[in-house]
Amino acid sequence: MSRTVWIRVVLAVAIALAALFFIRLHNAGGASSDSATAGYRLATAWCKDCHSIEPATAGAITGPPDFTGIANRHSTTALSLRVFLQTSHPTMPNLILKPDETDSLVNYILSLKRN
Ligand code: HEC
Repeated sequence: MSRTVWIRVVLAVAIALAALFFIRLHNAGGASSDSATAGYRLATAWCKDCHSIEPATAGAITGPPDFTGIANRHSTTALSLRVFLQTSHPTMPNLILKPDETDSLVNYILSLKRN
C-alpha cells in the first residue's frame, strides 16, 4: 500500500476510537450525573441567594450552611436531604419541589461530597 493510504487508514481508526471514547464517556455519567446537572441549574435559580452552592464559594457566605459543607457531613444521605426538602422549615422558605426536582437537587448536593 502507498503511504497516503496508510495515513488514511490510521486516521480513520483514530477517529473511530475517539468517537467510541466519547460515547463511553457520555454513558458512564449515567442518569444521575445528568440529574446532578439539572440540580445545579435549579440550585442556581432557587438556592443560591442564601446558600453557597459550589465548592469554589464554600464558606464565602455566613449564615445558611453551604452545600459542600452539607454534602460532606457524615449525617448527610440522600434520604436525609429528601426529608429536609420535603418538610417545612422555619428559617427557610417552603419550597414546593416536584419529585424529579428534589431528586436532581439531592443528586447535585451529593455530587459535592469529597471522598
Ligand atoms: C431564603 C433563604 C434560603 C433559600 C432560598 C434556601 N435556603 Fe436552604 N436553608 C436556609 C437556612 C437559613 C437554613 C438553615 C436552616 C436550619 O438550620 O434550620 C437552610 C438549610 C438548608 C439545608 C439543611 C442544612 C442542614 O443543616 O442540614 C438544606 C439541605 C438546604 N437548606 C437546601 C436548600 C435548597 C436545595 C434550596 C433551593 C431549592 C434552598 N435550601 C434554598 C435558607 C435558604
